[in-house]
Formats: sequence, structure tokens, C-alpha cells
Amino acid sequence: MQVFVLGGTGTIGTAVVAELVGRNHQVLALSRSEKSDELLISAGATPFRGDLSEPSHWADAAISSDGIIQAAATFGEDMGDVDAKAMKNLIQASETRSEPTRLIYTGGCWLYGETGDEVAMEDRPFNPLPSFSWMIKHAQMLLDEPKLRTAVVHPAMVYDMRDGGVFHRFLSAAKAGQRIEIWGSEAIRWPLIESSDLARAYCDLVERTDLIGYFNAAAEEGVSVGRIASVISEAYGSPTEPITRTADEAVNENGAWAKGPTLDQQMSAQKLQSAAGWQPKTTDFAKLTSQWITDLQT
Ligand SMILES: NC(=O)c1ccc[n+]([C@@H]2O[C@H](COP(=O)([O-])OP(=O)(O)OC[C@H]3O[C@@H](n4cnc5c(N)ncnc54)[C@H](OP(=O)(O)O)[C@@H]3O)[C@@H](O)[C@H]2O)c1
Repeated sequence: MQVFVLGGTGTIGTAVVAELVGRNHQVLALSRSEKSDELLISAGATPFRGDLSEPSHWADAAISSDGIIQAAATFGEDMGDVDAKAMKNLIQASETRSEPTRLIYTGGCWLYGETGDEVAMEDRPFNPLPSFSWMIKHAQMLLDEPKLRTAVVHPAMVYDMRDGGVFHRFLSAAKAGQRIEIWGSEAIRWPLIESSDLARAYCDLVERTDLIGYFNAAAEEGVSVGRIASVISEAYGSPTEPITRTADEAVNENGAWAKGPTLDQQMSAQKLQSAAGWQPKTTDFAKLTSQWITDLQT
């Protein structure tokens, strides 16, 4: 397949590009800088120069591919508006096509809000953080579009062995011999997925054009942040007692997105497993992360 990737240099996109290339797909990826061109070329993809906020420059190329993966996000205040313009341009470009184009759109576990002791499945009503609520509207708009065959992935919290992903802040503190700062409480649970497992889910879905709708992607349903912090601090031999900041303090200091990591969540990928046959390879973040830290130190 020829697959056009938006966000191919991000936490999710880097792993997705590597997996697509590994499966011998031809990968075109939106790139807005020389640095991204270089990263994409070295990963075996072909960069397509453009900006997410200027979709008229790339929407036709994207829609002429066999599949599109949307994993780009500006994370600015205009995040929702940029995504809306990009997705509307794709829809417009799709109207001239005789056959529908496969699209994988990225949502996220934070769209479910707090789940507490319940485990979110795809039929759970959304309860998004206000700053991410636009994603639900865009996902539905794409699912309703007849010239697109859309699957929406809700990734769990993504960690990776490149820069840590959602573990990055914890790893940096522990590496510097400092106490890890936890937002909210140690008991808060995060659903987790390692980036290459998530990439296999995206690739399975882009190939399986018969699968439409919402798919949660998680390898561990809910792991407490206290446990994550203790695994990382122990592996680095740094102080194991974390510093706890309230959710309000975290939001005041870091912005509205910081409410996300303070949500107590559990999420299941049972649907993805039974529909696509997807199975995560890493179901114990602690083993992989400790080994990775040990390898870095030797
Ligand atoms: N990471 C997670 O744990 C997680 C979990 C659930 C859902 N999600 C969702 O997944 C999506 C991607 O997340 P991520 O963590 O992979 O993000 P990320 O690491 O910040 O990557 C963002 C990607 O978007 C690209 N991008 C940003 N602004 C652009 C622009 N104006 N034009 C072209 N490309 C642009 C970046 O390219 P450059 O290299 O040029 O900056 C990069 O490739 C987001 O919607 C996020 O909410 C993430």
C-alpha cells in the first residue's frame, strides 16, 4: 500500500512509519522542516513538504494514497482548529474519488475522562477534557463520510524507548538523581502501551479496510503512576519518594493539557484484539523499562 502519514516524526508517528516501512509499504509523510525530512528519509519514508495548517498543499496527495494515518497535532491553542481545517480539506479532496480512501484517525484515552474502577470499552460515553473535546466531533465527522473508510484509534498513554514518551518527565528527573514529581496522586492509574505495539495496531488497521469505527489500544489496562515512578527511580538508583503536586498546581504551571495525566483511567483493547487479531508484545512496562535503563547505563 502507499500510506500518507501526518505526524510521522512524533511519538506515535515515528513508530508507525518504522512499522509501515518494515511491512514494505510505501510511506509518504508530511514534513515541515529539514530536520523532519532527514528523520523520515533515514526511516525509509519519503518526506512531503507541507504544514498541517495548510492542507490545500497536501490533501490531494494524501487522498490519492491507499491509506492515510493522522497522528499529527500542534498542541497549541489552535490544535482543534488546525485539525478541523486539515480533516475538512481531506473530506473535500475525497469527493472527487471513485473509491473511498482508508483513514486512521487518532483520538485518545483522555476522551473517556476518569474511569476509576471501571475499564473503558468503546461503548463507554465520552467525557473529554474540554481542550480535547473537538476530537470527538472530528472523529464522528470522518466516520460519517462515505468517501473515507475511517477507523479511530484511542491510544493509551504511549511510552517508548526513544525518548520515553509519557515517561519522559519521570526519566529525566530520575536520571538527574532527583525525586520524580507526580501530578494528582500516586494511586492514579494510566492505561499503557509501548509505541511499537501501538504502531502494529495502526498498521493492522490501515491494512484491514473492513474495520471501521472506534478501537481502543492498550497493552496494560491501568498501572498506578506511583508504581511507574518507583520502577524508574529504582532502575536509576535515584530517590524513590516522589513529590506529589495537586492537579490544580500541575495545570497552573503547565497548561490545561496537564489535567490529562491526573485522570484515573483504565482502558481495554479487547475489541482490537478480537477484531484485528492484534496482541501487544510488551505487557509489562516494568521489565522493558528497567532493562532499557540498565542498557543505557552500561
Ligand atoms: N503520546 C501519547 O501518549 C498519546 C496518547 C493518546 C493520544 N495521543 C494523541 O496522538 C496524537 C499525536 O501525539 P504524539 O504524542 O505522537 O505527538 P508528538 O510527539 O508531539 O508529535 C506531533 C507530530 O505532529 C507534527 N506536527 C505538529 N505541528 C505540525 C504542523 N504545523 N505541520 C506539520 N506537522 C506538525 C510534528 O512534527 P514536527 O516533528 O515537525 O514537530 C510531529 O510529527 C495527538 O493528537 C495526541 O493527543 C497521544
